[in-house]
Amino acid sequence: MDIKKLLQKMTLEQKIAQLCQFSARCLVADETGELTGPAKDLNLSMKDIACCGSTLTFADANSMIAIQKKHMELDPNKIPLLFMHDVIHGYRTIYPIQLALGASWDADIVKKCSRMSARESAAGGVHVTFAPMVDLVRDARWGRCMESCGEDPYLNSVMARAQVEGYQGNLDSDEDICACVKHFAAYGAAESGKDYNTVDMSEYNLRENYLCAYKSAVEAGAQMIMASFNTINGVPSIANKWLLKDVLRDEWGFDKPIISDYSAFAELVNHGYCSDEKECAKAALDATADIEMMSVCYLRNLTSLLEEGRIKEEQIDECVLRILELKDKLGLFENPYRGANPEKEKALALCPEHRAIAREAAQKCAVLLKNDNILPLNKNTKNIAVIGPWSDVGMLGEWPAHGEPSETVTVIEGVKNALNNANVTMAKGCNGVLNELPDDELINEAVCAAEKADAVILCIGEHSKQSGEAHSRADITLSPAQIKLVKEVCAVNKNSVCVLFCGRPIVLTDIIDTVPAIFVAWQPGTEAGNAVADLIFGDVNFEGRLPMTFPLHLGQVPIYYNQMNTGRPKLVPNQIFTSGYIDYPNDPLFPFGYGLSYTSFEISSPVLSKTQMNKGDKVVVSARVKNTGAVAGKTVVQLYIRDLFASRTRPVKELKGFEKVYLEPGEEKEVSFEITEKELAFHTASGKFEAEAGDFHIFVALDSTSKDLVTLTLK
Ligand code: BGC
Repeated sequence: MDIKKLLQKMTLEQKIAQLCQFSARCLVADETGELTGPAKDLNLSMKDIACCGSTLTFADANSMIAIQKKHMELDPNKIPLLFMHDVIHGYRTIYPIQLALGASWDADIVKKCSRMSARESAAGGVHVTFAPMVDLVRDARWGRCMESCGEDPYLNSVMARAQVEGYQGNLDSDEDICACVKHFAAYGAAESGKDYNTVDMSEYNLRENYLCAYKSAVEAGAQMIMASFNTINGVPSIANKWLLKDVLRDEWGFDKPIISDYSAFAELVNHGYCSDEKECAKAALDATADIEMMSVCYLRNLTSLLEEGRIKEEQIDECVLRILELKDKLGLFENPYRGANPEKEKALALCPEHRAIAREAAQKCAVLLKNDNILPLNKNTKNIAVIGPWSDVGMLGEWPAHGEPSETVTVIEGVKNALNNANVTMAKGCNGVLNELPDDELINEAVCAAEKADAVILCIGEHSKQSGEAHSRADITLSPAQIKLVKEVCAVNKNSVCVLFCGRPIVLTDIIDTVPAIFVAWQPGTEAGNAVADLIFGDVNFEGRLPMTFPLHLGQVPIYYNQMNTGRPKLVPNQIFTSGYIDYPNDPLFPFGYGLSYTSFEISSPVLSKTQMNKGDKVVVSARVKNTGAVAGKTVVQLYIRDLFASRTRPVKELKGFEKVYLEPGEEKEVSFEITEKELAFHTASGKFEAEAGDFHIFVALDSTSKDLVTLTLK
């Protein structure tokens, strides 16, 4: 398609319509030909929707085909709609939430999951997924921790790339969909963990920590980017010319569509950044925002802004061209129904191959926090009690697309699937609502079940609906009801294992000394119960590691491993006039990078190929890791560095590489990492991204707390 020629043919009205995105519900008239629901709220007419450029949130391939068909009849230029959807962690077969994927430290499984998601959703008619979300998060109160791969810029960047590659492939098959990376930028840094809240931070922090994963997604070829709801240093992202034009377009060379978040154009008025919707349109266009999602600032105001000479038609043309180019790249002009295939959609949904991927992912993401020789439970156990509010609940996690909790394997089902002849009983113990107080009747029932059982599986933590968008929590401890339940059950049955479901780190201090064993299952998706049973009965080993710090106390939040040192670091407990608290230590309950296994590992001190390095040179650091236990297992060898003195203060430690290693019992392997200037570089005081001469501590370790280091000098 000759896009430029097409653009010349389009009227101004038609061009503006290309920039509009309405939900599928807005595009479908009722039997009387009237637009109702959200379309009515936006005061849309049939004329407004006839040429609109894209739509979001639709049911399936059949509805996509019907909507596109109708659109092609209405649009005089026959420009197909782009169909977008929130396919976040699966379409119909749901795999673990992104925070869990971060815990896998395994880019291959993450890519495999995104690939499966692309196959299923492409058959459902999806062209663009609003994923991956790569917002770095350090505050466990934020509801959307669950959508992020956690607190580390490097781990996030690796996972961002894996997801983009998984979704997009080469974009040349109709099983490939476009990735829309979001929410640009620093949406996860919302003050006090409240969703949509203000972000105020230095450009140094932004570039060093928060921008890295978006950049990685852009470099991996993401076809779209979504601007975030929040302000950064007083400017809302969708109107932030510095962020969108100077950094994203000019510095990073991103020449593809930028879309707003849901009604974020109009919300510029609420922010107090624009006086009315006309000003919203002007600010967003000046920032080069292309697609307006679910508000009508462009639709109602670009014409008059142009007539008044406040914007130029070329600005609109540039936006339209970026959208048409994407449509052309996807071959929509030749086949507006790209990918949509109702039979294939049905055949792929929950197919055995996809269920197997979801199960494998859920196994790999689980993190074993404590095990006093209780796990794995013996498969010959005769009487098992599954206790807790989430024993028989499908734990899909928020944003389940078309996943159904009723099609999800619960823990009780998983345990029954794993053990043919066991007597499996269940007691809820509490209802799982937030801040719930203990109900003695429910707890007694659970205690009775625990007394009669040979082993107990306690399903505690958060329900899928207790994290996610607009689901921030001020208190991330367990409810009094859950704490009492755990304590009373563990008191009567020493073979009690806790399975923690959650979409964020939870403060576990109240129960950690009581429980003999606990692991984090996150929100595991369709195959939750089977994966949990695979781990509990030792059919597979734990290999996940924490992608976010688990605090010791709520008041430590935000807590993250790669903090700055300060002028008065607390080096020993109770040291006064140092940075810390007088009532609690600085250390978390479980650090970033931590996780146990059914075997044990030892790692040697790191060794450098040479201790001095010139600029442009590289060195290799290596360590030997050994499986010192009785079964095979995987561990994650992690490379951290610390820049000792620099033109700006540097973090106490930063992850720069990792490798998952499989070892048979007694087996030992050498793991090596190359260190170049890139690993040592940062945004210096002069504004450049470069390495400064000096000493660096290098750690090769099994979590972020290691003190075993070697010093490298960059000359
Ligand atoms: C969310 C986005 C999502 C969009 C469309 C917004 O409320 O912040 O992450 O993609 O809705 O559903």
